[in-house]
Amino acid sequence: MSERRVRMDKNIHWQSHSIQKSDRQLLHEHKSYIVWFTGLSGSGKSTVANELEKALHSRGLSTFLLDGDNLRHGLNADLGFQEVDRKENIRRVGEVAKLFVESGTVVLTAFISPYQSDREMVRNLVEADEFIEVYVDCPIEECEKRDPKGLYEKVRTGEIKEFTGISAPYEAPKSPDVVLYTAIHSVPDCVHQLVNYLRSKGLLAR
Ligand code: ADX
Repeated sequence: MSERRVRMDKNIHWQSHSIQKSDRQLLHEHKSYIVWFTGLSGSGKSTVANELEKALHSRGLSTFLLDGDNLRHGLNADLGFQEVDRKENIRRVGEVAKLFVESGTVVLTAFISPYQSDREMVRNLVEADEFIEVYVDCPIEECEKRDPKGLYEKVRTGEIKEFTGISAPYEAPKSPDVVLYTAIHSVPDCVHQLVNYLRSKGLLAR
């Protein structure tokens, strides 16, 4: 299958509910938004997202972390790594992330999300100030050196095909909101950078 078709039946109608996103944000006492981490496998997305979630949680914000490897155990267990599946992966994650924003939660996502158009699609699902694209910029040589899951080794032996950055594309963000250089800066420094950014945008306020 080269393409997935997403279509909505004309007999499906939108149901309006009394409690709105703004009511939930008032209850949580902060805004809700998506912090979208993108980068190569091994670049540090999950690690930094995990530490950022801890920092936000300790400040009293309601958070949730969606992680590529974890979602591929359940919701996205039927998807592989061909372009069509990666696109469907990000489409689903975008819709789930949007629901979290509606719920009044700060949602952090850690997915390679290699295609610019898919990330733009997610950006357009929510309001302008509700999507923060974080490019976790790390040279592939460094990712390969780290190889936390032993995957780069498997790519070199031919066991894994279509691996991002080697045999499948990665389109670096054109204008990310934040760039983290994880080969140069420590994880605490990256979290500090993100917390400062969120504060400067009024996104930490309670
Ligand atoms: S994405 O490209 O569709 O956004 P996602 O973030 O969900 O990818 O999953 C990437 C994770 O799956 C990687 O961190 C790695 O652990 C694992 N993985 C397994 N096979 C591949 C592959 N061919 N390319 C990239 N990642 C892979």
